[in-house]
Amino acid sequence: MSDKKPGPPRKATSLRVPGRARTSSTTPGTTHSLDDSAAPRTMRTKSISLRTARGRTTAQQRWLSRQLNDPYVQAAHKQGWRSRAAFKLIELDDRFHLIQPGMRVVDLGAAPGGWTQVAVKRGANRVVGVDLLPVDPVVGAEIVEGDFTDPDMPEKLIGLLDGKADLVLSDMAPNTTGHGPTDHVRIIGLAREAMYFAFEILAEGGGFVAKVFQGGSEKAMLETMKQAFTLVRHAKPPASRKDSSELYVVATGFRPDRLNLHQDND
Ligand SMILES: C[S@@+](CC[C@H](N)C(=O)[O-])C[C@H]1O[C@@H](n2cnc3c(N)ncnc32)[C@H](O)[C@@H]1O
Repeated sequence: MSDKKPGPPRKATSLRVPGRARTSSTTPGTTHSLDDSAAPRTMRTKSISLRTARGRTTAQQRWLSRQLNDPYVQAAHKQGWRSRAAFKLIELDDRFHLIQPGMRVVDLGAAPGGWTQVAVKRGANRVVGVDLLPVDPVVGAEIVEGDFTDPDMPEKLIGLLDGKADLVLSDMAPNTTGHGPTDHVRIIGLAREAMYFAFEILAEGGGFVAKVFQGGSEKAMLETMKQAFTLVRHAKPPASRKDSSELYVVATGFRPDRLNLHQDND
């Protein structure tokens, strides 16, 4: 692990059509060339229709049809990203310059590994992905299978990173119940736990990104974040589905000295 300080912010790359995109080296561990500049906004795709339901329920049929016709799914497959979600981090990073060469990065809720791939590809020096589910190895990253709330986890991750983290990412989502208000409470609970986890393992000046959902109940968490970070913003990257209330909170400039000033009583 180098102790290199993160360099100056990278200039935001414009999203280009795949044919004209900057090509990049192959990330080991995949057979594809990972091209992190080619988000599929401008891509034309052929619509695929399913002729038969083959025993699928209407909901399954709808999901499959959406997947097959989703340009991000197609682009992720083509470019070697393990998830369409990889584009969300690419877009967030293009906008906020979160990942800098030499950084130590923790990716909470890493499976199947798309965000972990992006962190490695964008030059982080040490990357650790954590998930309850197994994740296929990502070359350049360590994978920990387990619950991030495990009391041993902060120490374990700091050990693997060889120091505190510069960036904690959380794309975690709990199992959904289909009951909107319950799911909302669960995701906010998870995001809040991720925030407190980040407080434990972040180095001064570090950043934190977490998936939240639109609604009122994250206000108290936001207040806590505003105390603990220099800048807190919300973003809905283009890759985040428009019909989803998902959005990301992006906090930078961690100030551990400010932590005790505010209690999150949400
Ligand atoms: C939407 S997926 C993440 C996708 C990932 N960002 C990617 O690009 O491949 C959310 C993940 O959060 C994980 N997760 C949920 N609760 C967790 C917990 N307490 N500890 C670790 N992982 C958790 C789930 O197992 C799931 O794999």
